[in-house]
Amino acid sequence: MTQSISKKRSDYRAPEYLIDTINLFVRLHPTETSVVSELNIRLNTSVERHDADLCLDGQDLQLKAVLLNGERVDSYVQNQNQLIIPYESIKDLKEFTLSISNTINPQDNGSLEGLYLSNNAYCTQCEAEGFRKITYFLDRPDVLSVYTVKIEADKQQFPHVLSNGNLIEDTTNERGLRCVTWHDPFPKPCYLFALVAGDFDKLSDSFTTSSGREVALELFVDKGKREQGHHALSSLKKAMKWDEETFGLEYDLDIYMVVAVDFFNMGAMENKGLNVFNSKYVLADANTATDDDFFNIESIIGHEYFHNWTGNRVTCRDWFQLSLKEGLTVFRDQKFSADMFSELATRINQVKVMREHQFAEDAGPMSHPIRPDEVIEMNNFYTVTVYDKGAEVIRMLHTLLGESGFRAGMDLYFERHDGQAVTCDDFVNAMQDANDADLNHFKLWYSQSGTPEVTVEKIPKTEHEPMRLQFSQTTSPTSDQVNKQALYLPIKLECIEYNGSSVALDLQQGTFVLDTETASLDVHANDCVPVLLSDFSAPVKVHYDYSLEELLLILQHAQSDYSRWDASQSIYQRLITQHYESMTSQKNKDVVQASRIDNDVIEILQKVFVELEHEPELLSELLTVPSTESLMQGLSDVDPLLLVAAKKNVIGELSRALSSYLITRYQALTKLDKDYVYNKESANHRRLSNAMLYLLASNDTEEVQAMIQDRYRRADNMTDLLGALKAAQQSSLSLFEDLMQKFEESYQDNAVVMDKWFSLHATTSYSDILERLTLLASHRQFNMKNPNKVRSLVGSFAFYNTAGFHAKDGSGYRFLADYLINLDAINPQVAARLVTPLIQRNGYNQHCNDLMKKQLERIMANKTLSNDLFEKVSKSLLSDAD
Ligand code: TRP
Ligand code: ZN
Repeated sequence: MTQSISKKRSDYRAPEYLIDTINLFVRLHPTETSVVSELNIRLNTSVERHDADLCLDGQDLQLKAVLLNGERVDSYVQNQNQLIIPYESIKDLKEFTLSISNTINPQDNGSLEGLYLSNNAYCTQCEAEGFRKITYFLDRPDVLSVYTVKIEADKQQFPHVLSNGNLIEDTTNERGLRCVTWHDPFPKPCYLFALVAGDFDKLSDSFTTSSGREVALELFVDKGKREQGHHALSSLKKAMKWDEETFGLEYDLDIYMVVAVDFFNMGAMENKGLNVFNSKYVLADANTATDDDFFNIESIIGHEYFHNWTGNRVTCRDWFQLSLKEGLTVFRDQKFSADMFSELATRINQVKVMREHQFAEDAGPMSHPIRPDEVIEMNNFYTVTVYDKGAEVIRMLHTLLGESGFRAGMDLYFERHDGQAVTCDDFVNAMQDANDADLNHFKLWYSQSGTPEVTVEKIPKTEHEPMRLQFSQTTSPTSDQVNKQALYLPIKLECIEYNGSSVALDLQQGTFVLDTETASLDVHANDCVPVLLSDFSAPVKVHYDYSLEELLLILQHAQSDYSRWDASQSIYQRLITQHYESMTSQKNKDVVQASRIDNDVIEILQKVFVELEHEPELLSELLTVPSTESLMQGLSDVDPLLLVAAKKNVIGELSRALSSYLITRYQALTKLDKDYVYNKESANHRRLSNAMLYLLASNDTEEVQAMIQDRYRRADNMTDLLGALKAAQQSSLSLFEDLMQKFEESYQDNAVVMDKWFSLHATTSYSDILERLTLLASHRQFNMKNPNKVRSLVGSFAFYNTAGFHAKDGSGYRFLADYLINLDAINPQVAARLVTPLIQRNGYNQHCNDLMKKQLERIMANKTLSNDLFEKVSKSLLSDAD
């Protein structure tokens, strides 16, 4: 094991040395790529004391030579992760050139960090600290350099040889090899460096910026897949236009390139002028991608593009500030999706991420503020907290300052910090100064972890006093922080009377600000039902003692569609938890207890659904029942198998009660099916019919099976095919297997599509799921070195197959532990992501906890454990110590 030493945010020191320019010369070779790096280094005069050695980061490098101002030096010191030039050797030099040659082995690089091979293409991933796997450097985001990169490669094998910025030379050298030189005029931190060489299909286009400059757009995909690149490229043009219109931000280079690769640890990477994407987030056509895939591609293409300003032009001072670029860029991509597709759908997607994943992270052993204080492995902090809660914090600023106030803050931020590496405080200060606001209390969101819980009570009107809503907030201690303070919470709300009419409230933008532990709001009405946290205006949990009738009232009469959806989820949650609780209190847990839903409830639900005939988007959301993960959030000491059973019972009951409505509507809807196009209207049409079929599938009848079969047979697009498969998975295993086999026959050669197939298998309630997983892992499309495959098969199982993963005998946990021990030796970053379901144990009962802990201990006992897994597993084990 390399040393597992944590770094603290409070230890930040400015770099003693700066590197103004770097000339890289890379000779590509599968096992022995040679890298010559020429660095122009100078003392950082803004640092006071000068007696420091020059300590360059490096990892898995074969050092060949070091030259100082052209002369060989031998005085350097090398340890496992550093090359140190002693102060003695450089103390008389204010500026000097250091040339380093080393070799690396891309072929054996399974970590997919640094330079590696994806299929037959070379590519790089440097964020966060991967540049040190290419050459020795000051691998930190506050060292900004101008890059010139020369790459030597075989012309036949690698027709496309790319790096950041502009192509300045393309020649053939004396050895008959092609030499390509790129120059990026914008100083950048090394995590934004990229190099790609391969044989791709290229899709070209161009974009004229608002000031009239023409930018060449180039998209590189695997041979034969050119036609699947159009959606990504048109999304890119939309993003460029949107950023000009919304934030006045123009692209700055003459060329923007996007490369899609199959082997990639995350979604995509915003390298300056040369984005590298997971092919899953580029390739799309009607036959291979679902509407959700189209949506995600547009959103991620947008995300990486928006980084050009929020991340690249203004970058992070240190990695603790990651949310500075990620939270802000996620917020920007959400606004983009809301404008391009749908505000409601975008918001609901995001709220699900918060409730299902972020709340769970904050309640577990990895809890951290959006700006963490202490880190062992930086890769472990690309989290839903930094990204998604970070985006919620930015959204709150937007709510508080309004559209134009927020824009003024953004303008000032760029005016002050363009070309710099800055902190989260710098961002909030710009927002504050541009608006003359006081955001000091608000800043606590950056330092405090945990999910605030807001409790609201209604105090009835009396003769002398108006009706009042009493608010209080508290944040429970988290694994990283015991003491919590009251935060600054914008709570959007409306109030409706029992007849459904809305009550006028004396609030700015409908938002009540709770910035103390308790506060109250007067409501001038005789009585009412509060509709709380509209649009999820703050990343908190809200408690109000609603009756089921009151939730149904909100569902029918709230002004906000978001709030109607939220009420529907609370209603389902209520029905399922009540049934779950009655099942837990029953003596013989193996006797399945039937669920009974009141007729009145069914009647109101059906009435609401019928009335929404012309709002397919909202209706499809209302017909979608909360996931098991989000149900977990309202419960403690959970028996997961019982929860799955309870959910199944309740949904089955609901499905039966609504079946004649659903069948009639479904049939009417599918009569209107048209040829596939991806746009909001037709996507919503498909979404609704698939939601109906899915709900129907919980009532397993021959009629429904025939409908599913028919759906599969007639589908002319991936959305409906997958809709049929998911419905079959709910209804009948034999039908499911039959359709899955057909699906495999049609798509076995398409890697991206087969990921969906793996993931469907992995989430099915087979009694012999582990044997199946083992068999699937030997499928010719499966490859343990490919993160997409691992996530589809093993990740889907551990995250979403509740019954299989939490099997009573602990076999699911053992399976995951065994897998991760092997995977850790190849790709620790991905292994550490997949360990999440094993470390987020807090909601589960003692039985599960004991068995999970046993597996965590087995992982811990591994002698070659990575820092990545060590950090997470040790924190989880430590959390039981007290
Ligand atoms: N900066 C990337 C993004 O959010 C994230 C990313 C891509 C990443 N690849 C990575 C982070 C590898 C860490 C490691 O757009
Ligand atoms: Zn990002």
